[in-house]
Amino acid sequence: CGITGYVGDGDALAPVLDGLRNLEYRGYDSAGIALVDGGAPSVYKTSGEVDALVAAAPDESEANCAIGHTRWSTHGPPTDTNAHPHTDCTEKIAVVHNGIIENYETLQADLDDHTFTSETDTEVIPHLLEERRAAGDAHVEAVQAVTDRLDGSYAFCVVFEDFEGIIAVRHDSPLVVGHGETGAYVASDVTGFLDRTRQVSYLEDNDIAVLDGDVTVYRDGERIDPAIETIEWEADAAEKGGYEHYMRKEIHEQPQSLRQTIAGRLDVDGGDVDLDVSLSEEQLQSLDEIEFVACGTSYYAGLYAARLFETLADVRASVTIASEYDFGGGRDPWRTLTVAVTQSGETADTLSAIRAAKQAGAQTLAVTNTLGSTVTREVDDSVFIRAGPEIGVAATKTFASQVATLALLAVYVGRRRNALRAGRASTLLENLRALPGAVQQVLDNEPVVEELADTYADSEAFFFIGRELAYPVALEGALKLKEISYDHAEGFAAGELKHGPLALVTEETPVLASLTDGSRAEKTHSNVKEVQARGAPVIAAASADGDGTRPAVDEQLPVPNIGLVEPLAANVYWQLFAYHVAANKGRPIDKPRNLAKSVTVE
Ligand code: G6P
Repeated sequence: CGITGYVGDGDALAPVLDGLRNLEYRGYDSAGIALVDGGAPSVYKTSGEVDALVAAAPDESEANCAIGHTRWSTHGPPTDTNAHPHTDCTEKIAVVHNGIIENYETLQADLDDHTFTSETDTEVIPHLLEERRAAGDAHVEAVQAVTDRLDGSYAFCVVFEDFEGIIAVRHDSPLVVGHGETGAYVASDVTGFLDRTRQVSYLEDNDIAVLDGDVTVYRDGERIDPAIETIEWEADAAEKGGYEHYMRKEIHEQPQSLRQTIAGRLDVDGGDVDLDVSLSEEQLQSLDEIEFVACGTSYYAGLYAARLFETLADVRASVTIASEYDFGGGRDPWRTLTVAVTQSGETADTLSAIRAAKQAGAQTLAVTNTLGSTVTREVDDSVFIRAGPEIGVAATKTFASQVATLALLAVYVGRRRNALRAGRASTLLENLRALPGAVQQVLDNEPVVEELADTYADSEAFFFIGRELAYPVALEGALKLKEISYDHAEGFAAGELKHGPLALVTEETPVLASLTDGSRAEKTHSNVKEVQARGAPVIAAASADGDGTRPAVDEQLPVPNIGLVEPLAANVYWQLFAYHVAANKGRPIDKPRNLAKSVTVE
């Protein structure tokens, strides 16, 4: 989601709406603003893009304080009521929020005399603020007290009827303050105000910023002077958070998007998962098979998931390319669950496969990034991956979040089928909790990968190999590279090399191998030696704890030890490699030739 705010001289409406337009890439399913002009905040909000809000909002206003929001739904579908800002019962307090309040249901239960109008986690914030104000807290004090009760990752801005300004909070979700000549700005990122000021202060976690005539920042209860920096980027780069391409920005967003994916869903100690799934325990226990249908990168996420389901949930799991899905005969909803894996929720091939499955009688589920998408209206139930919008055509952060979500689902199903002991589940959940940090460590090695990409960019072809969970990662690594660099790249099951593909291996074909947990790395060692014997250079993404028997390779990229999700961290190396090979060749990375983000034809 994107947040903007302005307080200062002149009409606050224009800077806030302009800011929302610039932040629309962060979410675009609904939008809203609150204007403060010496009375209760006037709220205008609507489903749809910022243009719909512009049509619903006044043309101009006298307000010199306003906050705005453009939403990417995580809780509650993209409706008018669920759009931000949200208000308290008295409608004197309005809040815009980005992120997830994990404990909102518990907090809501404590507010039983309050009427809630939306299905969002956000709405709990204005109601809690209402309570604190009624108890006599000053504005900043009330915000601090409420913030202390929130779990999760969030950033929010609040305006009050009786306060001339904006109070802004960040906790694990970005928020920056802009210092302009006529007033102060706040936004999810600098794009929200860069056309008006380049002087910014980056808030740190748990900072509370008060924007009135001035900007005051409180850190650990103490007033501090925030450092002011000058942004030098050009407008186009700014939109991409300073990155040259959305794809690279999205690769780097993975620690944050993965945190959002797992937020509030892990019970590590209890070895269980909290997922909003309506399938009953009885239904899950009676299942004979789970079939995944998907296309492209989502198909590879399905391959990863099928293995996890077989191991963790003791159920036969298959994956079919959606455009190949076709069968005669009926399905029994008690025996077959068909899962559509689709980032967009709009891929025609996947929709048609899920319709066929439903018609044949299967129980259906969607794993998707997009609330309110077509697939969610066709299936019996949906689980959301919460990765945030992805703009680059080549999927990156959505792959990671799809696999993480499917891993959660595998634990959920495994526990309910009594196929998975709590202790083993705890270990996997611990690994998932460590995944965002591990991905960050991989990202920190980007300079090494960039150099490798430059060294090998002109190779004849690139081969990716892996076994078990690293096999889908080999396929995904090769797909990324071919999509954006136009080079010939193939992914192989490492054991299959000797049955054919080895004929293609020469000194001119680097081999990228995943030697991680969950991939029978010790067996892949022999395959590494096979290709080395043909002169191929080898780059390995390998478990950091090492293995004495591992063959020496040309470059070893360390993957933090996180068990069955290690291949997912290794995949981030392949994303970076693909990106830098393509960048080296000056390819149009965000819009590769002949490809589209969402393919709505069969
Ligand atoms: C297109 C995109 C791919 C994507 C595939 C499936 O081909 O270019 O990046 O993986 O569609 O998309 P979905 O939205 O169903 O996950």
